[in-house]
Amino acid sequence: MNDMSPPRPNDLDSFWMPYSDNRYFKTNPRMLARAEGMSYFTPEGREILDGTAGLWCCNAGHGRREIVEAIQKQAAIMDFAPTFQLGHPIAFEAAARVAEMTPDGIDRVFFTNSGSESADTALKIALAYQKARGQSQRVRLIGRERGYHGVGFGGMSVGGIGTNRKQFGAMLPYVDHLPHTHDPARNAFTKGMPEHGVELANKLEDLVALHGDTIAAVMVEPVAGSTGVLVPPVGYLKRLREICDKHGILLIYDEVITGFGRLGTDFGAERLGVVPDIMTMAKGLTNAAVPMGAVACSNAVYEAVVEGSPAGIELFHGYTYSGHPLASAAAIATLALHREEDLPGRARAIEPYWEEAAHSLRAAPGVVDIRNLGLIAGIELAPREGKPGARAMDVFRRCFDDGVLVRVTGDIVALSPPLIIEKPHVDRLIGTLSDAIHAIA
Ligand SMILES: Cc1ncc(COP(=O)(O)O)c(C=O)c1O
Repeated sequence: MNDMSPPRPNDLDSFWMPYSDNRYFKTNPRMLARAEGMSYFTPEGREILDGTAGLWCCNAGHGRREIVEAIQKQAAIMDFAPTFQLGHPIAFEAAARVAEMTPDGIDRVFFTNSGSESADTALKIALAYQKARGQSQRVRLIGRERGYHGVGFGGMSVGGIGTNRKQFGAMLPYVDHLPHTHDPARNAFTKGMPEHGVELANKLEDLVALHGDTIAAVMVEPVAGSTGVLVPPVGYLKRLREICDKHGILLIYDEVITGFGRLGTDFGAERLGVVPDIMTMAKGLTNAAVPMGAVACSNAVYEAVVEGSPAGIELFHGYTYSGHPLASAAAIATLALHREEDLPGRARAIEPYWEEAAHSLRAAPGVVDIRNLGLIAGIELAPREGKPGARAMDVFRRCFDDGVLVRVTGDIVALSPPLIIEKPHVDRLIGTLSDAIHAIA
């Protein structure tokens, strides 16, 4: 504990909160004022166990001294410098540390500030790559139903969540979608990767038959998180990879939540045994202490775009804050912690206990499915008649009031704790969730 007086807002009206029920929140505010290790603290000092690593991002736990000090030090040395036609050493160092962690051959790193920017950047790089190699007819982007790739127009269009699109009119043109892989009739209550559904990857062949050689890239989350934890069926990603290779299509993984140890390996690509051409990341890259995202590309993609361009700027894309010094410092410190503390190894070690604990909720009232992989679990509840999402929202509120933070999406409770979680935390998290599910049934 420290003795800083907790911040209290004097006005709830000004901040238009993202992805929130503003009207409900502003009459029933739930505030977080401080964080340390596995916990948040409310302004009143009440401890809340973090079952979600913030928003899938504080993988090393909160308030890590090494990261805080690196940011403080860098802020005093150089607050900001552009990376357009100039450089500063720690941006290069941060990129090298990321490249060390990504699969072999995926060694070129473009910095952004968020997962959404990473998604849009990856799509633009894929289009630029196809053009550079003389395939300018390849303008089509394929996503997947229920996919989430952030809120930019690219990610939103290639994403497949209806509620995220319906307020915003026309999407990007030339986008199509694979079917999602959720199949509760065959796979409900599977532990780890579901057995059924590899054939859903063959739908990409149907899209190739329809669109011919106009497809530039396919983008999927290795494990879909925001839509409520959809674990890929055994063999599915391998099949997608094969079809992409056969037809000259790039495979993009959105590793924004699966990166940095969440699946017990550095990236999901490693755990799932299938390497893409481009991977997006954000969140755990800096332990969320400073916003930062990145897109790691294969050497072939980089070389085609860079070598294939006339002299001068090769990619007309970038952000003022690409490789921001404070974010770079946070990333270097985070990735050092990741290695020193073997965060993926910690996730792997506790995964069996986590899996059993999550699946112990199977008999709780209204639970219709449980899914898990790495340190992720999704607990799906039957919706209340005519009120989709209401049941899970009641669980969320009840858990918060009982000292545990969970995340809900629709009627699914999605859990993704910091990777430093220990067995007593797992017991408390799942125990409180179980009590809440029983209480609101
Ligand atoms: C898979 C995936 N992609 C992209 C994003 C968007 O990231 P951000 O909110 O940092 O823009 C998220 C956020 O949860 C995500 O889960």
